[in-house]
Amino acid sequence: MKVVFLAPHYPPEMQQFTRGLAEVGAEVYGVGDQPAAALPPALKPYLSDYLHVAHMMDEDHVIGRVTQWLRGREVDRVLANWEPLMVCAARLRERYGMPGMSVETTRGFRDKELMKERVRAAGLRVPHSQRVRTVAEVHEAAERIGYPLIIKPISGAGSADTYKVDERAELDRVLTAMRHVHEASVEEYIDGEEFTFDTVSIDGAPRFMNVAQYLPKPIIARSEEWVSPVIITVRDLRQEKLAAGIELGRGVLRALGMGDGFTHMEWFLKPNGEAVFGEIGCRAPGAKLVDQMNYSCDIDLFREWARVVCHRRFEATVDYKYNTAIIFKRAKGRGRITRVEGLDAFMRAHGRHVVEQKLLPVGTHRRDWKQTLISDGHIMLRHPDWATAYELAFEVAGKVHLYAQ
Ligand SMILES: Nc1ncnc2c1ncn2[C@@H]1O[C@H](COP(=O)(O)OP(=O)(O)OP(=O)(O)O)[C@@H](O)[C@H]1O
Ligand SMILES: [Mg+2]
Repeated sequence: MKVVFLAPHYPPEMQQFTRGLAEVGAEVYGVGDQPAAALPPALKPYLSDYLHVAHMMDEDHVIGRVTQWLRGREVDRVLANWEPLMVCAARLRERYGMPGMSVETTRGFRDKELMKERVRAAGLRVPHSQRVRTVAEVHEAAERIGYPLIIKPISGAGSADTYKVDERAELDRVLTAMRHVHEASVEEYIDGEEFTFDTVSIDGAPRFMNVAQYLPKPIIARSEEWVSPVIITVRDLRQEKLAAGIELGRGVLRALGMGDGFTHMEWFLKPNGEAVFGEIGCRAPGAKLVDQMNYSCDIDLFREWARVVCHRRFEATVDYKYNTAIIFKRAKGRGRITRVEGLDAFMRAHGRHVVEQKLLPVGTHRRDWKQTLISDGHIMLRHPDWATAYELAFEVAGKVHLYAQ
């Protein structure tokens, strides 16, 4: 089987998906904006060929270059697993008459208003919302929807330009900050806890399922630098608390016509028990969540995803063994990391539960916490008992500190 895989090197977990594809027997034809010589050496053995394109985000450019490159070669799949490239992959598939999700279906996972319209039309609970392009439209939508509200770009990611607005007086300030955004959603603000619903699906039916909790909600984690964002996968998916969200998630996959592959959905659990849709992508989650799911079940979802998209089979046995927590740290101060406090004590006491310790070493430059959830590194740990995993995660959040100068 010959597979064109867009961006096999970036984000970094795509290298693992490339490995997975090769391991299930695919010949992988990578397309990316790095020169071949600059690709990570570990990636190269998994690539049968590679096309360097100048502008990865320019779909017409990529489609033209790939088509020229493939001339005379038969390929069986065109795949991507990164949000901004999903539609481009679908356009290539349509052009070559290949199996896989269409552009129209993929758009339902990409355009936040369209996805809500489709999910709402299936009778599922979605926040009231409206697509807006002008200041007048924002005011009109705000009147209709009421406060507090959320305003966010239609095709956003990473909570960029996403604001909670509590009252009318705040709206003008937020509108000034959002002037560069051409199209946005104004949404009813949903109070409650926030979770993911992640799947590897065949024909929209989950063969693997995961729920993780965001602690705190991304909108808070992304706006307060002092927070150490924690995400924990939930081992016990049968608990009553999650039933409505899982049912919602399955319904959303049907409503949007999901095909084969990864999905990553976000949803809210209101204090009254109601589950409300947030957003969904038809690709793998980022920020190490695939690794977390792998640690939770001692499984290799990079390879199982590949098996699903190439051969439409999921073969791994799924046994939920752990709640896996990731804790992202942000150093205090700017510049380079000068010291780490509390880590040794934590590792002495609880190191046996830690599966990854990837805090930035002393001497390295801080990352931009606004640009990347990965921040200044992470610790990942797992425990069969939810309360213990939670407690350990918040011990890292509260007692391990990085300093920079
Ligand atoms: N209607 C809403 N009610 C309450 N909170 C919301 C709502 N919409 C968005 N949020 C908050 O804002 C965050 C970012 O919104 P959303 O997930 O839609 O954007 P995003 O930029 O695609 O995020 P990411 O790429 O980080 O997943 C959500 O995770 C949630 O915390
Ligand atoms: Mg989101």
